[in-house]
Amino acid sequence: METTPSPPYTPKTLATCITARHSTRLFTPDPVPASILRACATLATNAPSNSNTQPWRLRLAHGPARTRIVSALQSAANDHGPRIAPLPAEFNHFRSAMGHKLYGPEGWNIPRDDAAHHLEAQLRNYEFFGAPVCGLVTLCDERLTAMDAMCVGLFVQNFVLALTERGLGSCLQVSVVGFPEVVRREFGVAKEEVLLCGIAIGWPAVHPVNVLDIGREDVDEVLILLDE
Ligand SMILES: Cc1cc2nc3c(=O)[nH]c(=O)nc-3n(C[C@H](O)[C@H](O)[C@H](O)COP(=O)(O)O)c2cc1C
Repeated sequence: METTPSPPYTPKTLATCITARHSTRLFTPDPVPASILRACATLATNAPSNSNTQPWRLRLAHGPARTRIVSALQSAANDHGPRIAPLPAEFNHFRSAMGHKLYGPEGWNIPRDDAAHHLEAQLRNYEFFGAPVCGLVTLCDERLTAMDAMCVGLFVQNFVLALTERGLGSCLQVSVVGFPEVVRREFGVAKEEVLLCGIAIGWPAVHPVNVLDIGREDVDEVLILLDE
């Protein structure tokens, strides 16, 4: 990994980091010092977990390792589509609204009927959107359950917020684990680990696609306060 010293950063409030984080899908080619990645991963390990099992594993690659991984993923993605479980129909409207923002005039601005450019944009997942660091998040043991996967999520959220505080962008990527054999081989993942998602990390390029307000449901849709 890169040994450049970490640039200084100004600590930000938690709320600032939470609201400033957006999925980043266009990066500058500037390298990310390994010291920053290590500092953010160290912070992230403060996440709580069931019986303190700490079931998260995070692999990060740059340089020749990243080139090898991207090349294997691109070759698979050019050959066939990813194996990703379909969303239940009730959730499709979220995906449509998100796709409209991402590919529409506020984002990549690709005409609806331009299938070739839509495909090209989707295939950019497999080069981690040009990020200099690509990664993989796993649950360390397939005998663990959804609750333990939730603990990995807590770790990942800590990690991406720590990256955000340092000015780094990230994008979590289910698309990447749609090629499980390639991912296992190229990242060197043990058989008993459960693949959760890929991650792209780097310095965000200045582009509308990186500051999209994807929108969220009103909190009253998700928070249930019981008082009797
Ligand atoms: C587990 C997970 C998997 C995701 N997979 C992808 C992906 O494969 N490609 C992509 O472009 N974005 C992916 N995303 C990003 C989501 O689309 C994004 O988080 C969501 O639309 C909300 O936007 P925001 O992150 O900018 O707030 C993923 C996010 C998560 C948490």
